[in-house]
Amino acid sequence: MKILVTGGAGYIGSHTCLELLKENYDVVVLDNFSNSCKESLNRVQNITGKTLSFYEADLLERPSIHQVFKDHTIDAVIHFAGLKAVGESVTIPLKYYHNNLTGTFNLLSVMDEFNVKNIVFSSSATVYGNPATLPITEDFPLSATNPYGRSKLVIEEILQDLYKSDKDWSIALLRYFNPVGAHESGEIGEDPQGMPNNLMPYISQVATGRLPRLSIFGGDYDTPDGTGVRDYIHVTDLALGHIHTLPKLISKTGVVIYNLGTGNGFSVLEMVKSFERASDRQIAYKITERRPGDIAACFADPSKAKKELGWEATKSLENMCQDTWNWQAKNPMGYRTHSKKE
Ligand code: NAD
Ligand code: UD1
Repeated sequence: MKILVTGGAGYIGSHTCLELLKENYDVVVLDNFSNSCKESLNRVQNITGKTLSFYEADLLERPSIHQVFKDHTIDAVIHFAGLKAVGESVTIPLKYYHNNLTGTFNLLSVMDEFNVKNIVFSSSATVYGNPATLPITEDFPLSATNPYGRSKLVIEEILQDLYKSDKDWSIALLRYFNPVGAHESGEIGEDPQGMPNNLMPYISQVATGRLPRLSIFGGDYDTPDGTGVRDYIHVTDLALGHIHTLPKLISKTGVVIYNLGTGNGFSVLEMVKSFERASDRQIAYKITERRPGDIAACFADPSKAKKELGWEATKSLENMCQDTWNWQAKNPMGYRTHSKKE
């Protein structure tokens, strides 16, 4: 079975390609390397001892997508490609809407043309906005507070409309909570360009000395220790969630929605302490102002995915921190020892 992975060179995409190859899927990657580099795919192939096909191509250029579908008989698409920095999406919304929406339109229209109607879409817990209660189930009300989140919400709605118009489509909307960690080999991991926006890459760069100190955004939330609580999920568990989704996607048409999280919430301070244990280093931090748009706490009820997909996260917080540290210590500058396009 042949899977097209858009954005397959990125953080979650590369870990998913690895698990797909391990399960003997044929993998074709389409990525423009706007936030990644080819080295991640080289390493995926080295770890698995298997090869994948890849296209350096942009979803904004429809003919490039067309070429991939002409060259390969694709059974299903896992669609990771998109821009994901929330703050940047507020500053340059048109770029975000263009890339995430137009890119998805182009992909869906080429899929339709080639009669490939199986797609897994990377959605996000951000579509739940500020939830009234916890844990979050898939039927909670949806809202968006920034252009990035709105692009996810709109794409979810477009995909629902598509199925309503043509019942041959099979669509899985996977809402990720907070992916962290790295493959246990330490060969692939998260490699943010410039200043990290998210907690784990920030903490790990403080641990290596690349950044001087973590700012903890708010110590006065209504949480056990006053700092924000999130559902951190190991990226390998998340990748395996996609592997568990594929058989269902292929076997039955419709739209399915799953939370991919662990169901456990950890605070920023708990993350810092756990990372200190894993790395045997002290993380300098200071509690500062809340970050605008942040919510106090967010964690999933992942029981639907367990019941219907037979999937659940198995890796502990300790695993997440150890694997992040292993990757960061082995690759203090990420993939950057290699040139961006290499
Ligand atoms: P990432 O930036 O590492 O990967 C995205 C990949 O898409 C990159 O390799 C980038 O080069 C590529 N890309 C972007 N625009 C493209 C285009 N127009 N054409 C071709 N390739 C393009 O991000 P990630 O963390 O791996 O996230 C993957 C997906 O999961 C994204 O859609 C993201 O919004 C979603 N998501 C991520 C998180 C998270 O915290 N990492 C949480 C929820 C949802
Ligand atoms: C991020 C995304 C959100 C996405 C979610 C799941 C942002 C602003 N939001 O949310 O759209 O759905 O991931 O992947 O990027 N923190 C600090 N200091 C830091 C960084 C973070 O204290 O330097 C705190 C935050 O206040 C929060 C927690 O750490 O309480 C996690 O933050 P982050 O990793 O950015 O993820 P989310 O805010 O959950």
